[in-house]
Order: sequence, then structure tokens, then C-alpha cells
Amino acid sequence: MRHIFILGRQPELGVAELESLFGSDKITDFENNLAILDYEGEINFINLGGSIKCATIMEDIENLNINALPSKIENVCLELEKTIPEGKIILGFSFYNIPSDIGSMTKLGIRIKKALSKKDRSIRFIPNKELDLNSASVYHNKLTSEHGIEIIVAKIKNRIIIARTSYVQNIDAYRNRDQERPFRDSKIGMLPPKLAQILINLAKSNNKDPKTVLDPFCGTGVVLQEALLMGLDVIGSDLNPKMVDFSVKNTSWLKEQYPGVKDPTVIKEGDATITKWDNFDLVASESYLGATYSFFPRDEELAKEMSSVNNLLKNFFKNLHEQIDENTGICVAVPAWNNKGNFMTLPLIDQIEDMGYNFINLKHSSAKHLFYSREDQIVVRQLLVIKRK
Ligand SMILES: C[S@@+](CC[C@H](N)C(=O)[O-])C[C@H]1O[C@@H](n2cnc3c(N)ncnc32)[C@H](O)[C@@H]1O
Repeated sequence: MRHIFILGRQPELGVAELESLFGSDKITDFENNLAILDYEGEINFINLGGSIKCATIMEDIENLNINALPSKIENVCLELEKTIPEGKIILGFSFYNIPSDIGSMTKLGIRIKKALSKKDRSIRFIPNKELDLNSASVYHNKLTSEHGIEIIVAKIKNRIIIARTSYVQNIDAYRNRDQERPFRDSKIGMLPPKLAQILINLAKSNNKDPKTVLDPFCGTGVVLQEALLMGLDVIGSDLNPKMVDFSVKNTSWLKEQYPGVKDPTVIKEGDATITKWDNFDLVASESYLGATYSFFPRDEELAKEMSSVNNLLKNFFKNLHEQIDENTGICVAVPAWNNKGNFMTLPLIDQIEDMGYNFINLKHSSAKHLFYSREDQIVVRQLLVIKRK
């Protein structure tokens, strides 16, 4: 089956996540925020932090004249109608990389509504405010339910894809897991649950079926939380006892929210440069990111900061090296500094091989350039997807 994924704000991370989980050869196209996956198995969409929607491809047409598009979409809708149980149909459209306007989208809605009413169907059409319906609108209007149809129309290279959305991200659940956790700490920064999922999934590129995830800088426990929700065992440690306490309390809150979630195996106090951990086969972590800045620091100040974080992390990777083998999956977010769009990275990035690790090869994005950043951030995260040599 062929699927089109609408990737999140940082598509290189979204496509790297898909590549890690499904293999590079299954991704047959990637352009802008769109990726095509040729895959027969089950897709655990709720675990994908880097994708917004996933749709099953119904039509894939080369060099289509854009004027012929409305009748193609109408045909797809008439075919889909036959598969929808009796009753009302909720219908919406999203266009990606296709020149259009809201007026034409509305006209298209009226045209399809008319065609479907001939089949004695009552239709509720979700009007577009933009060319694509956002995930909240798709989710709240139940467009992925058995009575819902969201038609995705997307241009990728010289082809037009028409697809039906099968999954959309549940932004309420993400918001709940991010903002409702009882113990948060703005000083250490907030790891979005979606990014925690991406870290775990990227680490899987070197271990497709892990059992136990280690986060040696667990802080308030977002990685532990997301790993537990994936059904994995977790081990967390942190230098700061307050953070250990936060992780313990947040993971027990998680259990109340999601009955059936396991208890963490261990959450303990420990310096990541010397601690020994037992029985883990995946490392997913947001490491210590150094000081936060509201202005870009002076050269000497930044050099000092970079050198101190670099030393800590080199010692951590040395300690980790002794405790893993070449099948351990690893993804660690380390800091980089955003100097007006130019990312200054840690010296250790160029010494990874000397430290006994290799970058994982990624076909659809560059292993050395996976960053998670926002425009206004000075300290951004660089995602190292590596393995022991
Ligand atoms: C950026 S935070 C991680 C936040 C975490 N992802 C969360 O969900 O809250 C980095 C953490 O590293 C911890 N830390 C700093 N130095 C450490 C060390 N040498 N060993 C272990 N943890 C350390 C800090 O206490 C902090 O909690």
C-alpha cells in the first residue's frame, strides 16, 4: 500500500524518522513537507512525532493538467462513497504544493456535495480557511472516522497525488502530555513530546526492536514518558536529585492518565559521565544543553560554554561506549548555537569516529545536519544518530 505523509515543521526530521522505522528503500519520494512510503505493514501513527497526517494514495497521476483535477477528485469521492456506511458523510479537502485559492476550494466542495447528494447522501462539508485543513480541524471534525473523508491533493515532483487521510496527529493528547504533567521546569527547557518520540524513533535506526530505553539526562522525564507509551521498558538517571524526583512523579502521573502503562524499571540519581546502567539496548536522550541565552553571547563566553559542554559530553560518550555494543540504538540531542541562522556545533561532532562511533547513514536527509530549532532560539538541538563502531 502506498501512503503519503504530511511531515511536521521540520520535514528533514520527519523523513529521517520514517527512514529509521521503515527503511530508506520504502520511501520512494520526498519533497518539501511530503514523503511517500510504500509499505504493507501496520503504521503506528500515534508514535510518530515528525508527521502530521498520513493518507492512503488513491490516484497518482503524472503531468496532470490542473484543470482536470476537479473531475478526478469527484471520481475518487464517488468511489469512496461506496465504502462508507449508511448515513452522513463529513468531507474536507487539503491541498499541498498546488496553486489554488479558497474560492476554488469552496467551489470544489459544492461540486462534490452535489455529486454525492445524487447518491442520497447528506454531506457536511468542512470549509477551508487555508488550502490545507489543520490537524485540529481534521481531528475534531472526525475526518478520519468511518463517516469522514479528507481528500489530500498534493503535488510531488511532476506528479499529482490524490489520497484519503487515514491518520492525523492528536494535538490534544500532545498538549496534555506536554503541559499537564505535574512537574515541569522551564529552566532546563521543555522537550516537546513529539521531539522525544523522534529521538526514540531515530535511535531505532540501529535497533528495530528494542526492549529498554535509557535516558541518562532524564530531567523531568519526557523521553521516559514517550518510551513508556510505546510499551518499552525505561531506565532514567540525572545528576540533579530534584529532576529524579520529577521524573518519578511524572511517570506515575502518566500511569493515571494512561492505564496499562508500565512502571519505569529504574529512575536514579547519577552523573552520566560515570554511572553504570544495566540492560538497555537503546539510548534516547536530550543531553545537558548548557546555559540559556536571550542574546547571542560574546565570543569568549560562548567558547568557554562550548568547551565545558563539549568536555562533559565527551566524557559521557566515553562512559557509554564501555557499556554498549554495535547493536545499541543511539540518538542524543546535543546543543548547537544559532548565530543568525548559522549553527555553531560542538567540536565533538567532528571527533565522533575517533571516539569510537559512526554516524548512521541516512539517504533522505543528512546525518550530520539534523537540527531541531525555532527561529528565535539561540541554543538549538542537534540530533546525533550514531552507533558504536
Ligand atoms: C536539557 S535537560 C533534559 C530535560 C529532559 N529531556 C526532560 O524531559 O525534562 C538536561 C538534564 O541534564 C542534567 N544533567 C546535567 N549534567 C549532568 C550530568 N553530568 N549527568 C547527568 N545529568 C546531568 C540536568 O540536571 C538536566 O535535568
